[in-house]
Amino acid sequence: MSARPLTVALPKGRLGEQVYGRFAAAGYPCPALLGDSRRLIFETGDGALRYFWAKPSDVAVYVERGAADLGVAGLDLLLEHRPEVYEMLDLGLGRCRMAVAAKHGFRDDRRRTLRVATKFRRIAEDYYASLGRDIDVIHLNGSIELAPLLGLSDVIVDIVETGTTLRENGLAVVAEILPISARLITNKASYEFHRTEIEAIRRGLEQQTEESA
Ligand code: PRP
Repeated sequence: MSARPLTVALPKGRLGEQVYGRFAAAGYPCPALLGDSRRLIFETGDGALRYFWAKPSDVAVYVERGAADLGVAGLDLLLEHRPEVYEMLDLGLGRCRMAVAAKHGFRDDRRRTLRVATKFRRIAEDYYASLGRDIDVIHLNGSIELAPLLGLSDVIVDIVETGTTLRENGLAVVAEILPISARLITNKASYEFHRTEIEAIRRGLEQQTEESA
C-alpha cells in the first residue's frame, strides 16, 4: 500500500456509479460514496484510496494537474481536450458513438461551407479536415439537436447513445465518427511514483471489465 491514499476522480452521475461498482468489485469498496450526504471526499476503510465526484468534464483537469492520481473520463472528452495524462484501460462502460446527424433528407452541398453545431469543436474539425471539407463550427453547450431544427446549423456532431433524441426530433445519423467509452486515466508523475499500486488497480479493473463483458 502507498504511504498516502491514491486519489481517484469519478465522474458524477450514472456512469460514475457504474465505475465505482467496478472499483468496489476490484477490492476498493467505499460504501459512503453512494450515501446521501453533502460530503465531497471519501476514503476507503483501509486508507488505500480516496474518491471524489467531479463533473465529468472536470475529471481530466484534476488528473492532469495531479490533484487526482487517477480518474475515469469518456474518450469524447479526452479527444476534445487532449489532457497530458496516460490512458490506462478501456472500461467498456458508457458506450456510445460520436456521430454526424442531420434532418431526414439532408444532402451535403459541397459548394457551400457546412455549418456544424457541436460541443466537440476539435473532434468535428479533425473529422472534417480528414475529409477535406470546409466547415463553420458553431459551438453550443447542450441540446445540440435544436440547431438543425431551427436552421442554426446544417448538421450536428454529437454523442448518440440510444438514438432516441435524434428519432424523436426527426433527425438521423449521417456518418459515424467513432465509438466512445469510459477510460481509466492516470497522472503521469503519479504513475512513475506509484506504478505498483496503480498497476494493481488497473489489473483489478481489467479483470472486472473482462468478467462483465
Ligand atoms: C447527450 C447527447 C444527446 C443525447 C443522446 O446529451 O448530447 O443529446 O445525450 O442520447 P440518446 O441517443 O440516448 O438520446 P445529454 O443528455 O448529455 O445533454 P446535453 O443535451 O446537455 O448535451
